[in-house]
Amino acid sequence: MRAVLATTPGGPEVLAVQDLPDPVAPPGRVVVAVEAAGVNFVDTYRREGRYPMPFPHVVGAEGAGQVLAVGEDVTTVAAGDRVGWVSGSDGSYAERAVVDADALVPLPDGVPAELAAAVLLQGMTAQYLVASTFPVRPGQHVLVHAGAGGTGLLLTQLAAARGARVVTTVSTAVKEQLSRDAGASEVIRYDGLADLTVELPPLVRAVTDGGVHTVYDGVGRSTFDASLASLRPRGGLALFGAASGAVPPVDPQRLNAAGSVYLTRPFLAHYIATRDELLERAGEVLGRVADGSLRVRVGERFALPEAAAAHRALEGRRTAGKVLLLP
Ligand SMILES: NC(=O)c1ccc[n+]([C@@H]2O[C@H](COP(=O)([O-])OP(=O)(O)OC[C@H]3O[C@@H](n4cnc5c(N)ncnc54)[C@H](OP(=O)(O)O)[C@@H]3O)[C@@H](O)[C@H]2O)c1
Repeated sequence: MRAVLATTPGGPEVLAVQDLPDPVAPPGRVVVAVEAAGVNFVDTYRREGRYPMPFPHVVGAEGAGQVLAVGEDVTTVAAGDRVGWVSGSDGSYAERAVVDADALVPLPDGVPAELAAAVLLQGMTAQYLVASTFPVRPGQHVLVHAGAGGTGLLLTQLAAARGARVVTTVSTAVKEQLSRDAGASEVIRYDGLADLTVELPPLVRAVTDGGVHTVYDGVGRSTFDASLASLRPRGGLALFGAASGAVPPVDPQRLNAAGSVYLTRPFLAHYIATRDELLERAGEVLGRVADGSLRVRVGERFALPEAAAAHRALEGRRTAGKVLLLP
């Protein structure tokens, strides 16, 4: 089978397609014919060596497809089942993936594998952020950075569905329109701001009656200070990513100065740590996709040998919605 490996820590140029032996299913695990692999920032962090990984490794956390074979003692799935996953695999950028049986979620009728690979990771992230990290209540104001990103479009829809007024930031006119279509009440073009930290919070405060209850910030370094300054007293900042780079260490006294605000750095793995929780969150996300109450935008599709181009597009801010690799 063909697979995309990160040969050594580095930029997109370290990604290479190689022929590997077809895998067999070990006990507790399953071989899946991958129909689509999701491209996520976590893949780039691992490729760079920012998150510890062995090298070489097959890239990719997320995927969906059809079960080809199951290992000894696997009873929860069978050959032919349609499944998706966001963890527990030996790499999804491949024609075949070996995945822990416990990490698989069944796909409902009406959700094709490609759509599942486009929504599971970012959709469950959006779901845990609005339902569990800082639960959104009707009438609250929330700020979502990168509102036209893969996660941003889903977060906006789920926060709006819970009754929030959603303010987003985006960098282009096309992204502004996509963000509005997802349900943002106010969209701020932060690309034109010379100093985000100084200029963004007053714009947010002006449209939110004095600041937001919650900021969902996956951009990180470039937005963090503005996020803190956009909160109302006792608001919450969920710093869930670092698309622009890692945030430097924070003095806790800054949380006091910002109005006794709350700061967390959440991670999906900790919100799907049990199988029950995984199935519950995946079930809500896939159920909403199936009934049409959550719309998924696939922005770009790449073939397996174009994995480096896919990473460049994601890291280069050129994508809106989900990026997929199709083996
Ligand atoms: N903690 C978790 O559980 C979890 C799970 C999933 C994802 N994440 C995080 O969520 C964030 C978004 O992930 P995603 O896959 O949905 O990506 P994405 O939002 O589709 O893409 C990132 C977006 O961030 C914005 N951005 C601003 N400054 C940037 C910069 N210097 N470089 C690159 N992008 C920049 C861009 O939108 P504009 O052009 O509009 O600025 C860009 O399109 C990432 O930080 C990711 O690590 C975290």
